[in-house]
Amino acid sequence: MRLTAVAAVLGIAVLAAPAFAEPGPAEGGAIFEQRCKMCHTGAIPQAPTQDKLALLDNAKIIDALTNPVPMMAGAVSGMSDEDKRNVAVFLTKKSLPAEGSLPEVKAE
Ligand code: HEC
Repeated sequence: MRLTAVAAVLGIAVLAAPAFAEPGPAEGGAIFEQRCKMCHTGAIPQAPTQDKLALLDNAKIIDALTNPVPMMAGAVSGMSDEDKRNVAVFLTKKSLPAEGSLPEVKAE
């Protein structure tokens, strides 16, 4: 009975984030929805809105996710380098070239 309940909850979580199946900026968009939007669409006055973030360079965004301000530390914990690159390209719409073992991320 309890296992069924857990499976149902997981099932809903998977359905709520279908974009995760797609690598690249689409996955970045799903991550933004889940981890960033609550602060970066105006709810937290100090947090730049999504429009403002879109004007930054990919490198600046990746740096902000790698060395986050204390308020953002929880939101970015556990994000992989690929996740950060996907979110950056989702926001900036500027492609990122391959780097080391990390694949190119093409803007859509
Ligand atoms: C708990 C609220 C919160 C969450 C969640 C959050 N942020 Fe932030 N973020 C902030 C605040 C506040 C600042 C501004 C910090 C400062 O400048 O003092 C900030 C700054 C930034 C900056 C730097 C902007 C600049 O001009 O330097 C970037 C990029 C950024 N956030 C991206 C993200 C992304 C991407 C996520 C999701 C993975 C995220 N944030 C999640 C609150 C949040």
